[in-house]
Amino acid sequence: MPENTSKVSMEKLVSLCQRRGFIFPSSDIYGGLSGCWDYGPVGVELKRNIKEAWWRATVQERDDIIGMDTSILMNSKVWEASGHIKSFSDPLVECKNCHMRWKADDLTENKCPACGGTLTEERMFNTMFKTFIGPVEEDAAIVYLRPETAQGMFVNFQNAVNTSRKRLPFGIAQMGKSFRNEITTGNFIFRSREFEIMEFEYFVKPGTDEKWFDYWVEERLKWYAKLGLKKEHLRLYQHPKEKLAHYAHSCTDVTYLFPHGWAELEGIANRTDFDLKQHSVASGKSLEYFDDETKEHYIPYIIEPSVGVDRAILAFLCDAYDEEPDKDEIRVLFHFHPDLAPIKVAVLPLSRKENLAAFARDVHATLRPCFTTQYDDTQSIGRRYRRQDELGTPYCVTIDFQSLEDNMATIRERDSMNQIRVPVAALKNTLQAKLAGEDLFVLPEGGKIWKQGSNE
Ligand code: GAP
Repeated sequence: MPENTSKVSMEKLVSLCQRRGFIFPSSDIYGGLSGCWDYGPVGVELKRNIKEAWWRATVQERDDIIGMDTSILMNSKVWEASGHIKSFSDPLVECKNCHMRWKADDLTENKCPACGGTLTEERMFNTMFKTFIGPVEEDAAIVYLRPETAQGMFVNFQNAVNTSRKRLPFGIAQMGKSFRNEITTGNFIFRSREFEIMEFEYFVKPGTDEKWFDYWVEERLKWYAKLGLKKEHLRLYQHPKEKLAHYAHSCTDVTYLFPHGWAELEGIANRTDFDLKQHSVASGKSLEYFDDETKEHYIPYIIEPSVGVDRAILAFLCDAYDEEPDKDEIRVLFHFHPDLAPIKVAVLPLSRKENLAAFARDVHATLRPCFTTQYDDTQSIGRRYRRQDELGTPYCVTIDFQSLEDNMATIRERDSMNQIRVPVAALKNTLQAKLAGEDLFVLPEGGKIWKQGSNE
């Protein structure tokens, strides 16, 4: 595989995602809505798992970060103070001939990509969506759909300090819907108009910010690697000073090798004391911190790692995608990390005969409280394995007629296609151990293993 090529094309991925119920265009039966996507029954599980893994690593497993869930609509003064009303804009040009509008940064030539016509001068276009509170559409009632979740955390800084009693350095994390009226959307879910962000604001003592910035760049890279993203598909990109966002002192992107090339997956910014200072001045409320060790009052600096959930989903989908020769065919599968796999266990009865089906349904009933499962009794067992491979299901449990006699079931592994036969009573613990990544796996009494390719 050449170094700068993704294993899967975007067309293939989009089609597989639609066919298997990961992601559909929004309002599909009406022709879709540009830049908006719906997650299907499998996609919603993948999304929940990615968010859950982020929350666990960011909030649950740390002493120094607390969670929040702030509102999407906020007082418009927030966006004035944050600089979004003035600066959250893209430079746009318009074709004098066909009147299409283009993002000036995206153009390599000074003519319209659609018709070749001449372009106007650049004009700034604010990418926040506006709406109104109350029944009368008057200026006083204008509110914005948030383009990021960060501001909800800045304006709650004192609430967080007072109620959590955390001392610096500490962070506030949240995830949630964000909206941007992007001029150009595309590359599937990479750039949308409605998307989710997972981000946290890590408040530190000024002077220690660079150390913490480096720390978080490393930690965030480790998080992706732990969940299976290949190290060679991740790179860091340091923004040159002249291209930084209005609030940032420095910013490093974690970039990923998407099918359309290397692009930003996550941004890690040193936002200095910009945000708290702005909100302090605009609201008239002090957002200073009292350091009881040094007896100083100061405004903390903020390090902010921020990733789009949908972009993370795209990266995990691309990275897990695989095609393998299998006899005369090609086996398509997702090698998802077990924590991320949408379906953990599929229960597959070999036949629909009532005695076998009843047995399989009982097995399913004992497993479904513990794992996200699927019960599938349609088509041949080979096709069902293929379907589960395309969903990235790590384990299939097959119930055959022998099971009725010896009370054993077969576990088939997605990646190796090896099969092990274990007593039904040991299924839950065995699957739990395997999903938790236990390398040293001991077969329960009476268990048996078939390696791929062996004829035993
Ligand atoms: N609070 C900082 C912030 O919002 P950003 O770089 O503008 O920073 C954070 O956005 C992350 O959100 C990006 O790294 C990217 O993963 C994701 N993101 C930004 N715009 C997006 C869009 N239009 N569609 C999908 N994801 C987007």
